[in-house]
Amino acid sequence: NNTFSTLFVGQNFIKLKEVDSTNNYLKNLASNSEPLPEGTVIMADHQFAGRGQQESVWQTVPGENISASIYLKPSFLPLNKQFFLNMAVSLAVAEALSSFLPHPVKVKWPNDIYYNRKKLGGILIENTLTGSTIKSAVVGIGLNINQEEFTNDLAEKATSLYQILHKQVDLELVMAKIFVYMEKYYLNLKSERYSILQKSYLNRLLNFNTVATYLQNGQVFEGIIKGVEDSGLLIMEVDQETTTFNFKEIEYIHTK
Ligand code: BTN
Repeated sequence: NNTFSTLFVGQNFIKLKEVDSTNNYLKNLASNSEPLPEGTVIMADHQFAGRGQQESVWQTVPGENISASIYLKPSFLPLNKQFFLNMAVSLAVAEALSSFLPHPVKVKWPNDIYYNRKKLGGILIENTLTGSTIKSAVVGIGLNINQEEFTNDLAEKATSLYQILHKQVDLELVMAKIFVYMEKYYLNLKSERYSILQKSYLNRLLNFNTVATYLQNGQVFEGIIKGVEDSGLLIMEVDQETTTFNFKEIEYIHTK
């Protein structure tokens, strides 16, 4: 029932017109109809209660953007390596989108998808644990594809494939690319290629090894991203000293 050239990602593909959130839908499906095949994908034309990072609201224009969730079972992944799933997913999405664009798509730590210093999309991964192993992960992906304009507050910060290419792109074509790269990076993860993932992730990271301005608790400072710890903490050089930052502790403002 599909045309995706993958082994498992997207092989069970469910398309919905409207749903609260594809992440919610997939979580319910997984708990009501176990075992759900790994790689199952829910994609919706419209979400009326899409969720973003940090309990934020994720709003999209119906039919123009990608709202999708992928079901994975990374039970092989030790808890202290959880951030590597985030790396694999970010890399897959960034690489898939890069194939449509003239320049490489960047990842803003920890997992925002950026192009031209504007946000092209975001990722929301929700894990279910049994004891200390990850039973399942619902990988939610929201991407601005054919949206022509953004409301005033977002215009400065957000972009879409349409704004960059000035043409419409078929949503399922983008999904097909995402599935291919998701499978590639997920299999890298499964075969414990941690250092390759780490290296590729740092290569994709916005502002890696570059002086940029950040904001922490109302304080502006300059820093250079030097790496990420296995736990996901950001390693930065500030005033010639190495410091680490936790998620949402700092905000990137601009590059010098
Ligand atoms: C972010 O805040 O940057 C993450 C946005 C994630 C949005 C996607 S859209 C598909 C999936 N379903 C949701 O409710 N959220 C994610």
